[in-house]
Amino acid sequence: MPDPVVKTMFQWTTDYAVGVRQIDEEHQRLFALAEQMHRAMLEGKGKAILEDLLARLVNYTCCHFSHEEQLMERIRYPGYRQHQQQHEDLRSRVRAMQDRSASGEVTMTIQVMQFLMEWLKRHTTGSDFLIGNFMKASGLSLVTN
Ligand SMILES: [Fe+2]
Ligand SMILES: [Fe+2]
Repeated sequence: MPDPVVKTMFQWTTDYAVGVRQIDEEHQRLFALAEQMHRAMLEGKGKAILEDLLARLVNYTCCHFSHEEQLMERIRYPGYRQHQQQHEDLRSRVRAMQDRSASGEVTMTIQVMQFLMEWLKRHTTGSDFLIGNFMKASGLSLVTN
């Protein structure tokens, strides 16, 4: 039974809803992966396991970015270039941090995950949210991929 004192750290709530089904589902999956890593940390799992979980989180983030970029292209989103640049910045920053964490302490691996999730939270409620607004304003379907 889970300890009721230990709260979930990464919980997707409707505060993060963009309103586009595929994006919201993928964001939920990102939060779930981060929470899985958080639990592994609490359980005192070793560096190899945490690194593996981080790699899964980073890979899924990149996969999600590609999907968002495909969607933006398809709907001819006016902020596409700027949004894609934000994704690219994050991708390169996380890759550089991951390289350092692979040769360092477990705390570095955790720091990469925390940095990534803080970034994703801000990006979701800012830039991603604007995609949803644009699609609603343009009368585009929010459920087709
Ligand atoms: Fe996103
Ligand atoms: Fe995005």
